[in-house]
Amino acid sequence: MLGNFNYVNPTKLYFGDDSLKYLNEELPKYGKNIQLIYGGGSIKKNGIYDKVVEILKANGKNIIEDSGVMPNPTVEKLYEGVRIARENNVDLLLAVGGGSCCDYAKAVSVSVHCNDDPWQKYFIRFEEPDCKIVPVGCVLTMVGTGSEMNGGSVISNHKEKLKIGHVFNEDVMPKFSVLNPKFTFTLPKKQMVAGFYDIFNHICEQYFSGEDDNTSDYIAEGLMKSLIHSSLIAIDNPEDYEARSNIMWTATWALNTLIAKGKTTDWMVHMLGQAVGAYTDATHGMTLAAVSLPYYRHIMPYGLKKFTRFATEVWSINPDNKTDEEVANEGLEKLEEWMKKIGLTMNITDLGATSEMLDGMVEATFILDGGYKVLTKDEIKNILKESL
Ligand code: NZQ
Ligand code: ZN
Repeated sequence: MLGNFNYVNPTKLYFGDDSLKYLNEELPKYGKNIQLIYGGGSIKKNGIYDKVVEILKANGKNIIEDSGVMPNPTVEKLYEGVRIARENNVDLLLAVGGGSCCDYAKAVSVSVHCNDDPWQKYFIRFEEPDCKIVPVGCVLTMVGTGSEMNGGSVISNHKEKLKIGHVFNEDVMPKFSVLNPKFTFTLPKKQMVAGFYDIFNHICEQYFSGEDDNTSDYIAEGLMKSLIHSSLIAIDNPEDYEARSNIMWTATWALNTLIAKGKTTDWMVHMLGQAVGAYTDATHGMTLAAVSLPYYRHIMPYGLKKFTRFATEVWSINPDNKTDEEVANEGLEKLEEWMKKIGLTMNITDLGATSEMLDGMVEATFILDGGYKVLTKDEIKNILKESL
């Protein structure tokens, strides 16, 4: 049965190859001081930085630079961003980059006017913000996380060997996001396909849970089919606008809170992937790819009905004269085939993990109870061992 829920998503999206111009409509809504958040410099190479700066200047803004946001942003960088925002009394945090920049901007936004230590408050105690929140805007250059239209923020603490996400409420979601598919054309192939799998897995995390007849599952199947179709076009021709724009839009819908409404969700692949990330600092989508098949093969018997449906509806497996187990297994084989075809990393060893890290990774894995099987620590260790 569809559960009860409230639904609101306040992020205004500007989508398309001319969408950056809409910054001119958004910027006048905010004060003069703009913290321009970006990563290691890709936006300087591909020209997006110059375009954004030109618009900021045309709107009479003071630009406060905050560069060097690393993939998997760290707690040290968060403290630096908070200091920059406080010293400059910023009015808007404008993230230009991928999920890392966008997540980081949200973490800064809830910390600027808060006296507590943000790591402890938001990522250890999971408290909600009780202070003024600095608004966040986003110009997306890497597709995958859905951070452009959700409240998620994931921060890594290398000293404590933890990578933790907090899903903030709608007050923290970006006020607006600019989605220009052409901005993603310069992504290295590895990042592009890691993003594809991040999208796919976000959908799976919300799909592989519950057995009720739920509209969300039909939407999820459509999103998965669209992604599989477009991904195969994009790996041959990364500049295929139709494919890249469909993928960008699918990514947003995969994790903008809609398909989780009224149903339970899993998220254990992400918990395992985050533990791997805490130890290896590997690319997020690749950590998910590397643990997925051992995890899904392990939980399949507990969610057989949904895995059978996944096989027939998403992968068009013909169920005639086959047991449900056979059908479900064929579905996972098709998933594996697609993952290999688009070039994902299929084991955690290739991401830098070693057997010596396994016990620590088990401890770093949060155990959630929304999936088909609540894992024990032994099961987690076995799944990680199979992922090596
Ligand atoms: O730093 P720069 O130089 O910009 O390079 C980036 C980075 O090296 C590069 N890049 C981005 N756009 C580019 C580009 N290179 C060339 N051309 C472009 N147009 O790509 C690299 C990866 O960027 P990053 O932002 O780290 O990737 P992603 O978008 O996958 O974000 C990953 C972070 O988001 C978190 C992850 O855990 C990770 O920390 N997540 C956030 C979620 C959320 N908010 O809901 C959910 C996800 O499950 C995920 O956990
Ligand atoms: Zn993800």
